[in-house]
Amino acid sequence: MQERTLSIIKPDATTRNITGKINAMIEDAGLKIIGQKRLRLSKEQAEEFYIEHKDKVFYADLVDFMISAPVVVQVLEGEDAISRYRKVMGATNPAVAEEGTIRKTFALSIDKNSVHGSDSVESAAREVSFFFSNVEIFA
Ligand code: CMP
Repeated sequence: MQERTLSIIKPDATTRNITGKINAMIEDAGLKIIGQKRLRLSKEQAEEFYIEHKDKVFYADLVDFMISAPVVVQVLEGEDAISRYRKVMGATNPAVAEEGTIRKTFALSIDKNSVHGSDSVESAAREVSFFFSNVEIFA
């Protein structure tokens, strides 16, 4: 099924200037980047985006990290894009991520794990519309 998912290239990756390398892995996996912009999240935006984690012990550190430098937000489209991208990203913790995944290749830690991807159809819809309007997405 053709799907769309929201990707974020995180501050640890933008500051190391590896967004192009990550995009190549995304495209090599058969996903098309149909929307993309580089921006700096405000604290309010980061808190709202990760609201489902607000009771977790890592929430404050997660928000601080996500606002520490620019991010690149992207809409990815392709066959089963949500699960396909999660496979390309690898496990949240790079220590247990599979060889060849983005996180195994580039992530520094569970916090500085280089990329985010939506985890369900519902969160993909919420997360894409959080950052993009329809006139910013071109398939
Ligand atoms: P992400 O996919 O962006 O979703 C929430 C983020 O919280 C996650 O990636 C991790 O970078 C971060 N995080 C930090 N600690 C943990 C943890 N113990 N479990 C899950 N996510 C964590």
